[in-house]
Amino acid sequence: MYRSHSCGELRESHINQGVTLSGWVAKTRDKGFVVWIDLRDRDGITQLVFDADRTAPKLLEQARNLGREFVIQIKGTVIERASKNDNIPTGQIEILVEKLLVLNESKTPPFTIENETDGGEDLRMKYRYLDIRRNPVKNNLIFRSKVAMEVRKYLSEQEFIEVETPYLIKSTPEGARDFVVPSRMNEGQFYALPQSPQTFKQLLMVGGLDKYFQIVKCFRDEDLRADRQPEFTQIDCEMAFVEQEDILNTFEGLTKHLLKTIKDIDVANFPRMTYDEAMATYGNDKPDIRFGMEFGEMNEVTQHKEFKVFNDAELVVGIAVPGANTYTRKEIDKLIDWVKRPQVGALGMIYCRYNDDGSFKSSVDKFYNQEDLAKWADATGAKPGDLICILSGVTNKVRGQLSALRMELATRLGLRKNTEFAPLWVIDFPLLELDEETGHYHAMHHPFTSPKPGQLELLETDPGAVRANAYDLVLNGNEIGGGSIRIHDKETQATMFKHLGFTPEEAKAQFGFLMDAFQYGAPPHGGIAFGLDRLVAILGGQETIRDFIAFPKNNSGRDVMIDAPAAIDDAQLKELSLKLDIKKHEPRTLDQ
Ligand code: AMO
Repeated sequence: MYRSHSCGELRESHINQGVTLSGWVAKTRDKGFVVWIDLRDRDGITQLVFDADRTAPKLLEQARNLGREFVIQIKGTVIERASKNDNIPTGQIEILVEKLLVLNESKTPPFTIENETDGGEDLRMKYRYLDIRRNPVKNNLIFRSKVAMEVRKYLSEQEFIEVETPYLIKSTPEGARDFVVPSRMNEGQFYALPQSPQTFKQLLMVGGLDKYFQIVKCFRDEDLRADRQPEFTQIDCEMAFVEQEDILNTFEGLTKHLLKTIKDIDVANFPRMTYDEAMATYGNDKPDIRFGMEFGEMNEVTQHKEFKVFNDAELVVGIAVPGANTYTRKEIDKLIDWVKRPQVGALGMIYCRYNDDGSFKSSVDKFYNQEDLAKWADATGAKPGDLICILSGVTNKVRGQLSALRMELATRLGLRKNTEFAPLWVIDFPLLELDEETGHYHAMHHPFTSPKPGQLELLETDPGAVRANAYDLVLNGNEIGGGSIRIHDKETQATMFKHLGFTPEEAKAQFGFLMDAFQYGAPPHGGIAFGLDRLVAILGGQETIRDFIAFPKNNSGRDVMIDAPAAIDDAQLKELSLKLDIKKHEPRTLDQ
């Protein structure tokens, strides 16, 4: 038996008991006549004591020679600590060690295994298994497991069944590039890894499974960000015989269950906002509604004077920044520089202070009088003490720019509290999105999404105006889930493919299996997928999903621990009938 208890378990009630513990040497303090060791395992830390009065000299010497991260087993007696430590649960006791066995030695770790470590990101990723020994990473993984358990519990209670779908498949169009896998047995042919199990879950509905879910890996070859990984996990769900309302209710239920069981937070029914409303009010289809600063459209109250910048703009729009009229000129100039950065891209910013005495002072006083400026305050909902920030230009662009400014100011003002949770549904998304580079429309969600009833005809005349039965679940400014009611008849699906630029042959080659299935009694169906990594990170009060993934990829999509991706040898290439005409990638070292 390696252990009778874990290192987080022993309390005063165990005093005088004989115990066996196993774990890692976290810290050694050697005072000469006495040696203390912090023994660590997943559950916590227990202090071991060896002293000259009570410990055999050989054992004391053995303890003294233990290195950091050695794996040891000890037998001893629980005793009361002389100086107690209220900061840890085992802080009242220590173990007077009688026997010590080194189970495995350890090289000195390349960074300290502490909550605050001296290891940089790259080093920690290379030795991720050591990083996982640290509380912040370990606790995130335990937290993730707890969330996944609660998801399974809730969905099982709702009679969803978990089905595994294949990973070696054909392209699923979710808008990213595919990762492909060459097939040895089918020369020159490739599988694609699923960007999501979308088509399979629809086929499960045709198969009559009624309610499906799966906690499943998805693979997307796209540019990485804090909230994106090339392989990530979805809570993927599908239901038959449902309308949008049924789906929203079921998954609002799941989200409330998680907020309650994980965070002990009760939230009211989730607000719903159409895509158009979200764009007009927050400039964003995933608005953070933990705070206000809603957009005020200002064309009417600005375009009647001689100020050319506003007069020439398609949209003039502003926000009232609470309590910010105290910003100095210098601070405001910095803010203007911030919106002019290429990442934001505004040409400039007009501002107006709403003074505490009710008067106004704007950067364009030459053009606008106090009466005009009072209307600006009305339009943005500004109160005395606020600063009104105004951007103008082409509608889509200016909304995006003001949204970025709104989020930045909210962060600076401490309005994005990670203990607050503000979920909402964004509904009625456009069915299609214009790709400005190619001039072609593509599906905003995916090509299996149904248009709103009666809007199919509009596809011919005004494709951009067609709205879809598609919805996103947004939490604290992050899209944590998205789904739709699907097309379930062959003709509508064929029409959709046509509008997305597929010839009938192309549609058949890529999605013939689905169109075929639709001819055998496909029920009305719909679903949603949550991004588990994002959900867990946000519930955990953070936004970087990497911190909640055991073995994540870095920003270049590399796993620096195993050094993947990597070249394969010529024999393997040959076996796969592949020829490369690029120089082979040399393994990268940490110093490069
Ligand atoms: P969608 O593409 O919106 O929908 O994806 C669902 C959710 O998955 C998460 N997500 C990601 N998380 C981490 N890294 C990524 N690269 C990444 N990409 C997406 C997001 C997103 O909301 N098949 C549809 C679902 C459906 O229609 O039922 C789908 O995949 O949180």
